[in-house]
Amino acid sequence: MATGNVVHVVGTGTIGEPLIGLLADLREELGIDEVTFSKRTPLLIDRSKIASLIKRGAKLCVEREKFKTFKNLSLEPEYEYEEALSRASVVVDCTPAGLENKDRYYRRFEDRVECFVAQGSEFGFGKMYALGINDEALTSEDRYIQVVSCNTHNIAVIIKTVALNDDGSRLAEGKFLCLRRANDISQEGEFIPSPEVDRHGDPRFGTHHARDVYWLYRTIGLELNIFSSSVKLNTQYMHAIWFDLHLTHETDVDEVKERFRSNPRVALTHKTSSSLVFSFGRDQGYYGRILNQTVVALPTLAVRNGSEVVGFCFTPQDGNSLLSSISVIEHTLYPDSWKERMGRLDRYLFSEV
Ligand SMILES: NC(=O)c1ccc[n+]([C@@H]2O[C@H](COP(=O)([O-])OP(=O)(O)OC[C@H]3O[C@@H](n4cnc5c(N)ncnc54)[C@H](OP(=O)(O)O)[C@@H]3O)[C@@H](O)[C@H]2O)c1
Repeated sequence: MATGNVVHVVGTGTIGEPLIGLLADLREELGIDEVTFSKRTPLLIDRSKIASLIKRGAKLCVEREKFKTFKNLSLEPEYEYEEALSRASVVVDCTPAGLENKDRYYRRFEDRVECFVAQGSEFGFGKMYALGINDEALTSEDRYIQVVSCNTHNIAVIIKTVALNDDGSRLAEGKFLCLRRANDISQEGEFIPSPEVDRHGDPRFGTHHARDVYWLYRTIGLELNIFSSSVKLNTQYMHAIWFDLHLTHETDVDEVKERFRSNPRVALTHKTSSSLVFSFGRDQGYYGRILNQTVVALPTLAVRNGSEVVGFCFTPQDGNSLLSSISVIEHTLYPDSWKERMGRLDRYLFSEV
């Protein structure tokens, strides 16, 4: 058994790679003693990123039978995969196989690991969570947490900022159209030649986006009337979301802008092109990332008939999932001071993009 706070990340893909890097870079600030990570497949094309993560201080873990193959790639594993799980205080699964890994591995380490975290695709893994949306739902008893997807974060923060008050919901109905990028710039497969619309598989919520937001808010006792649609576009840049919120109270564009401005996790922009917003993130963001939960396009905001708020926003890729994952880690390691510790990452948030 390891002593101290050990965080283990499973997977080195679009989410895993930046999370491992962030944790390694900010290790001391976050009060983490050791960052370990596991890589499943030994691939020559992945050698450079693994070597870079090791250089930044994270320790590579692989399955016992793959030690030799990794060593042949000049990559030195420190621990065997299951040993790494047994040493960890928190395990963050960043694979599309979190549910499978839970049954196959994590359950066996429940008496040692304080918290297991999985990502957006793993509906049913554990309590759903997004930083600043349902913080009060986190408890020290939570053994399994699912950090919701990037678009779920975005929809949730739009609702929270515009339509929720301390005393409850002002939302009569919310509709969302998720305009999704075909794949991430770090992914080479599954690009599409033309827009592709998603079926409304769920008669109540449309696509999984509204369903996930509904269940996220259910963790704090709110039941929202929301519906989402989704279309995949032939771009690698950012997702965008069109939102249409029917409030129970009158409002105006100035008030809506003010509410967005008051939330530090919301960035505002005068830009209307996702390539310009993406480019800002590449040049000014943390390793090219905007860590805000949404970027709201100011010129698109409108209020119809006094109480219907309409607009567009951009989803900063995986930045919001990264911060929420770190938030669960800090909540587990420092239940009494995690909010102050998370506050130190506010310097990476933008008020304007
Ligand atoms: N992409 C985004 O912007 C984004 C945003 C928010 C949330 N998420 C969520 O994050 C999760 C991961 O997505 P991603 O985009 O990061 O995936 P990805 O880029 O395809 O990477 C997947 C990683 O998981 C590893 N992996 C796959 N199956 C595994 C298994 N059975 N056991 C161990 N490792 C396995 C792969 O390892 P090898 O290559 O070594 O085999 C790879 O490192 C998903 O739940 C997704 O919904 C993604």
